[in-house]
Amino acid sequence: MISLTIDNKPVEVEEGKTILQAAKKVGVDIPTFCWHEKLKILGGCRVCLVEVEKAHKLMIACNTPVTQGMVVWTNTPKVIKAGKGIVEFLLINHPLDCPTCDKGGECDLQEITFKYGTDKSRFVEEKRRYIIDKTSTFDDLRIGPQVIRNQNRCIYCLKCIRFLKEIAGEYDMGAFMRGWRSEINILPAVPISNVYSGNTVEICPVGALTAKSWRYLIRPWTASKVKSICPFCGDGCNLTLWARLNKLYRGTSRRNDKVDEGFICDKGRWGYDVVGHPERIKSPWVKKNGKLVESNWEEAYSLLISKLIEIKEKYGPKALAGFGSERATNEDNYIFQKFFRTILGSNNLDFREKTKKVLPSPALFEYSQVYTMTNSIEGIEKAKTILIFGSDLNSEHPIISLRVRKSVLREENGASLLIANPKKIKFSSMAEKELVYKFGTEGFLINALLKIILDEKLFSSKVSQEQIDMLGKNLEKYPLSKLSEITGIEEEEIKDFSKKIASSESLMVFCGRWISESPQAEAIIRGFNNLLLTTGKWGEKYSGFNLLWENNNSQGALDMGLLPDRLPGFVPVEDEVGRERLEKIWNSSIPRERGLNYNEILLGINAEKIKGLYIMGQDPVESFPDRKYIEDTLKKLDFLVVQDIFLTESAKLADVVLPAASFAEKEGTFTNVERRVQKLCRALAPPGQAKSDWEIICELSTLMGHKQHYTSAFQITEEIAQVSPIYGGIKADRLDDCGIQWPCLNLNDLGTTELLPENFLNKTSQLVPVDFEEVPVDNEYPFILLTGSLAHHSGKLTNKSSNLCSIVPEGFCQINPQDAEKLNLKTGEEVLVESPKGKIKIKVKMDEYVNPGTVFIPLNFMEIKVNVLLDKDKLVDRVRLSKAG
Ligand code: SF4
Ligand code: SF4
Ligand code: FES
Repeated sequence: MISLTIDNKPVEVEEGKTILQAAKKVGVDIPTFCWHEKLKILGGCRVCLVEVEKAHKLMIACNTPVTQGMVVWTNTPKVIKAGKGIVEFLLINHPLDCPTCDKGGECDLQEITFKYGTDKSRFVEEKRRYIIDKTSTFDDLRIGPQVIRNQNRCIYCLKCIRFLKEIAGEYDMGAFMRGWRSEINILPAVPISNVYSGNTVEICPVGALTAKSWRYLIRPWTASKVKSICPFCGDGCNLTLWARLNKLYRGTSRRNDKVDEGFICDKGRWGYDVVGHPERIKSPWVKKNGKLVESNWEEAYSLLISKLIEIKEKYGPKALAGFGSERATNEDNYIFQKFFRTILGSNNLDFREKTKKVLPSPALFEYSQVYTMTNSIEGIEKAKTILIFGSDLNSEHPIISLRVRKSVLREENGASLLIANPKKIKFSSMAEKELVYKFGTEGFLINALLKIILDEKLFSSKVSQEQIDMLGKNLEKYPLSKLSEITGIEEEEIKDFSKKIASSESLMVFCGRWISESPQAEAIIRGFNNLLLTTGKWGEKYSGFNLLWENNNSQGALDMGLLPDRLPGFVPVEDEVGRERLEKIWNSSIPRERGLNYNEILLGINAEKIKGLYIMGQDPVESFPDRKYIEDTLKKLDFLVVQDIFLTESAKLADVVLPAASFAEKEGTFTNVERRVQKLCRALAPPGQAKSDWEIICELSTLMGHKQHYTSAFQITEEIAQVSPIYGGIKADRLDDCGIQWPCLNLNDLGTTELLPENFLNKTSQLVPVDFEEVPVDNEYPFILLTGSLAHHSGKLTNKSSNLCSIVPEGFCQINPQDAEKLNLKTGEEVLVESPKGKIKIKVKMDEYVNPGTVFIPLNFMEIKVNVLLDKDKLVDRVRLSKAG
């Protein structure tokens, strides 16, 4: 350790730290402009000058390493004079327009001038001006859908472009010209629209970059700042919501180094306007004479209760089912399942609406069945080899992607990046090896990789020969040449990839939506278990299997027991001891048999066994992979209730619609993909008569004669801790800093960063042969249809964000240029996409990242009803394309 003094304050820091870092440690304030903790040091602005005893000149604190016995002064006359000089220089050309600048009140230049600057300027010449429009006073230039530049205010700290280059790997903004003519700009007609663009606005220390959506709407000191969590993807970035007079004005990052390191994607930053959308439902609606009409709580509750009781009495509790939500809080989902189990008496519960074949419910510590991240987001930085399999990680998980990039670009022994996907992704250019397989053949690819590991004896000595022989025998069914033909990948490529995996020191696997939503997901996950076991990676440091759920609280919905066969904490419904323990806590009985899962519930409706369905916070008509089937099915119900923030397509079919609060209007917790439970607070009151989901269910329960005692969501958090051992130590007031990762067994437990129980290998050292279904060829429908999400959108929710729609406004279909040429199609033209199930018209975009013979259509746009093309029973959907007439 190095000892030094700063302004007479003794401080000890590690060798290699700078004076600035040491000063921060003892609370000495040194002004900075170009320095940022997460960026490389530039040392350009010189505002951080300090005096160091025995040094001949002033030193910049941000780039001067500490030395033993160093004596530093930050407030001597020499330092003060230098600081005033720097600020005076910066103000030579900077317009003194604080009253009309959107950054006023949170501007570093304003703050530093006030603290350290001078109130006189000796500069009497005309200021430099970048005139954009001679009729405007402001010289603003819109350089992207959401980013506005005013170059007059730029102090050339280069933080914006350094962030883009160093952290995000984006190059759509740069520094142009030299000397006093230097400017930050985009290339002509190429607006900045990368998914991290909003961070440039936040990182800019002055008003040179401002946000179109919120500029001039509020002054920062007039808004209340509320801690929240992003509701758009499973990464769980921390947000600050800025509200005033019950209106949301902006969302900014709230640094949590365990998750986001202070950077968020544009979806999380600009998507807040969904909350204030004019189409939010503000009161209950009930169906009268076949039409939904606005109503009130009294009428809605009374109808709801009478119908639920009627169905229960007439057909029994099993005739009722509930769909919960991957977007609702843990508290909402917990109360929902408790209501169903204890008051309605039904285990027919699920939330997995997007999947063709739902995964079996997970069991803790049986790795082949743990559907979560076993590693942590922070731990990705230490990975040696990263395998992305079946995921457009850049679009699905923008902030996890930044960690992967950081790991790969690590100065010492950067991680190797391996990718296997049905199409190329943005990370493709960084991959050491990449395989692009035919969609639907991922299981065969895993078996092909395993086959090489066995044939070339690359397996670990930890695995018994007996197990290896058993697995090898199963793999004999397909020769490598056949596996190569099925997957569309050359034999040599498979061999090279396999050898990379086997020779890697450790392996972190990341699977995304093309795995989690595959009808073969369970077998694929077992395949990965085989791969990790045979190569000896399971249990090794920096190894793990990570299933990345797409939505913000998919993990929480699983944990809360929104499943037909698992109670909160993954306790099997049929486990008598576990069930009885819960019955005691709940003071109520729980049905003993497992209920029906999502698809079984739909079958049950068609078989007239399920008569009443309660949907909380999801829209199956838009998201279930067979639109006609789900519409027809929902129409067969005796009674449908939908609780949501908008009058969704599913809600339009309901008998009762209840208005719910959005994430910004309630408190509670979300659990992100790495099992981190995080707290969100309420920034606004819900619109009109809307209420939090848990409040609605509690009121309903009370009216049904089961009085509920909760007065806040965090009381429910406490009950969850009592009920679910893995949440045992999770209390709202422990979540203020950075959240806690489960398992967290008690109040002294800090949580579990890496899910690697000591005795784990004993339990899972079994290799299980897995077989996969071949994808049939269909000459009538020659194209494979691949669907997914775009980086700027989240399901269909962000369709309601005009900010995000200004960046990516409409749906399209990506096809390979070779296919476009054959079909005589050009970018922007309309194509007719037909499947055996239905057809849609959509604009074409040529994209070399899509394989010939494959079509990619994002699922994010209301007007493009992609799910009319999908077949819930097919492994892979196929389509044909023709120029639209
Ligand atoms: S635009 Fe802002 S962040 Fe970028 S160089 Fe100028 S002052 Fe710095
Ligand atoms: S959408 Fe995901 S990556 Fe983007 S800010 Fe929200 S949680 Fe973070
Ligand atoms: S902050 Fe030290 S030189 Fe800019």
